[in-house]
Amino acid sequence: MQFPQYRPRRLRATPTLRRMVRESRLSVDMLIYPIFVIHGKGVKSEISSMPGNYRWSVDLVGAEAKEAAALGIPAVILFGIPETKDAVGSAAYDNDGVVQRAVREIKAAVPDMVVITDVCIDEYTDHGHCGLVGPHGEILNDETLSLFGRMAVSHAAAGADMVAPSDMMDGRIGFVRNALDEQGFSNIPIMAYSAKYASGFYGPFREACDSEPAFGDRRSYQMDPANLNEGLREALLDIQENADIIMVKPALPYLDVIRAIKDRFNIPLAAYNVSGEYAMIEAAARLGWLDRERCMMESLLAIHRAGADMILTYFAKDAAKVLNR
Ligand code: PBG
Repeated sequence: MQFPQYRPRRLRATPTLRRMVRESRLSVDMLIYPIFVIHGKGVKSEISSMPGNYRWSVDLVGAEAKEAAALGIPAVILFGIPETKDAVGSAAYDNDGVVQRAVREIKAAVPDMVVITDVCIDEYTDHGHCGLVGPHGEILNDETLSLFGRMAVSHAAAGADMVAPSDMMDGRIGFVRNALDEQGFSNIPIMAYSAKYASGFYGPFREACDSEPAFGDRRSYQMDPANLNEGLREALLDIQENADIIMVKPALPYLDVIRAIKDRFNIPLAAYNVSGEYAMIEAAARLGWLDRERCMMESLLAIHRAGADMILTYFAKDAAKVLNR
């Protein structure tokens, strides 16, 4: 008997063999493209820490969504940067707010596009927190929930196909579900940012939205990066509150959380390949230290292999171009 008898390399010998035994495959169908929307006309302003991604004025989002649709991307998620911010984030539920208007533009331009809206007030509050602030600087939970209800309803009324609460207040999925149902939007699914960690990888996003907290940090509501079991409890709560899709965020540093949720719960799972994950690859590629396309596709494949059925990513358009070749 000659050693070794089993040779894994036998199935790696040619591109065709490798193609046959490949276990995971990315598809354009999985991609969700985040779009930042601002007021104004004809504005396309690049986000410096996320080169290749822009803040678009409302009049331009229809065309951008059309371009994404032409690449086969099925969904976009919208983030709004309002003209004015205040303590209660009132621009968030303004029926003529920046996101509400963008939803109408996109649905008119590309009716088939699934338009998801981020439901959270941090982009709209002057203090930059995701909840209302109490007298001692504490983030109020129950007092904030009605704002998310109003915000989600105004998005749905504008024509949004799905809402995605990202605030991490307790009980908000059930609250938003009730608010939608009461207003006749019982067919609008909720994608819950269930296991959302207090992460350094959100840095470029906060630059894009100017939403860095004015004081303190988000650790009293976003999760401790050390905790996996807590992420499972958060996912379970959101499922019990009737979330339709569960999300883990960020993605790459939390592949174990993605896998654990996928193994336990029989529910569509999304992962958010966040701004900092994008910025790392962009920066290293610019320095000539990494092969951009290769690392982009490897990252997305890894997120899918870990168990994500859907991936929110700033690479969506570029990845779609690679997948379409
Ligand atoms: C909060 C929100 C954040 C992101 C999406 N929704 C930022 C935060 O919690 O500070 C981050 C996304 C990214 O970094 O790409 N509304």
